[in-house]
Amino acid sequence: SRQWRGIIEEYRDRLPVSDTTEIVTLREGGTPLVPAQVLSERTGCEVHLKVEGANPTGSFKDRGMTMAITRAKEEGAKAVICASTGNTSASAAAYAVRAGMVCAVLVPQGKIALGKMGQALVHGAKILQVDGNFDDCLTLARSLSEKYPVALVNSVNPVRIEGQKTAAFEIVDMLDDAPDIHVLPVGNAGNITAYWKGYREYAADGIASHTPRMWGFQASGSAPIVRGEVVKDPHTIATAIRIGNPASWEFAERARDESGGLIDAVTDRQILAAYRLLAAQEGVFVEPASAASVAGLLKAAEEGKVDPGQRIVCTVTGNGLKDPDWAVAGAPQPLTVPIDADAAAERLGLG
Ligand code: F0G
Repeated sequence: SRQWRGIIEEYRDRLPVSDTTEIVTLREGGTPLVPAQVLSERTGCEVHLKVEGANPTGSFKDRGMTMAITRAKEEGAKAVICASTGNTSASAAAYAVRAGMVCAVLVPQGKIALGKMGQALVHGAKILQVDGNFDDCLTLARSLSEKYPVALVNSVNPVRIEGQKTAAFEIVDMLDDAPDIHVLPVGNAGNITAYWKGYREYAADGIASHTPRMWGFQASGSAPIVRGEVVKDPHTIATAIRIGNPASWEFAERARDESGGLIDAVTDRQILAAYRLLAAQEGVFVEPASAASVAGLLKAAEEGKVDPGQRIVCTVTGNGLKDPDWAVAGAPQPLTVPIDADAAAERLGLG
């Protein structure tokens, strides 16, 4: 018996590393693929959740970050930089610690969840809050990496995509074939690009018999790909995907078109309904942006776009603890009781 070694060791022959590359890892990947009973009943399909919140820093970003930081270290970088809506910065900060590097992060002021900010802080990153949105942060990060000795670890760095494609490998390895449909939230569009690459590689090598249709969902206030134009002032409660000009826009359209898939929008109301359903009925606590995949699946099912009997995987991208405000908001206050069994039993309705 041995523990999971992290995505680079597990899929080394499919990733751009050499025999001598020194790997920077927190043993990311190997995340649960959880059968979703309520979603399966609602859709008449076999629905699974790929629970990426189980990664070391609580999101799928760790898959790309182990690659990006490993390669940056190999190339002699002393410092890394990223723009982020929160998860990339948390991941970069943690992996930079492992590599002994300085980490700088640019985040949109007031628009990142507290848990993510806490992660970047406790891992010792240098944080700059930018008076702008994610797209402005990315422009600034790119320009700093061009002018100064600091490596960019956003998903515009192609090795990030290489790392993230391993989630598709894991799914095929666990199901013994590709699903019929793969559903995921879309922000900067790196992840849909990565999954599509992973599924295509496995199909090309005959490990999967086919590729899935790729279904991506943006928040309706931040849906540039759906609208076909840049959104200058994106808004959504799902701050992780509050992005108006995705860097991997063309790749996402290619994944959609080549797979016979779709990219659509879901409202914040639909996102929050899926967020609550996942927690209350499937036992899986995700952050709001992650629920966009499930919200999209339920919307498509209501529109009659989901034929029964299919095998569907929804990626839920980040842990609910990142952004607990939405769990607490609107929920009833816990009752206070004296240290008394009868009183407690009465409040619990056990009596
Ligand atoms: N879900 C979560 C929880 C995310 O943090 C992100 C992106 C996405 C979905 C969308 O993935 O960008 O590859 O389409 N978060 C980035 C960040 C932008 O900075 O953490 P994508």
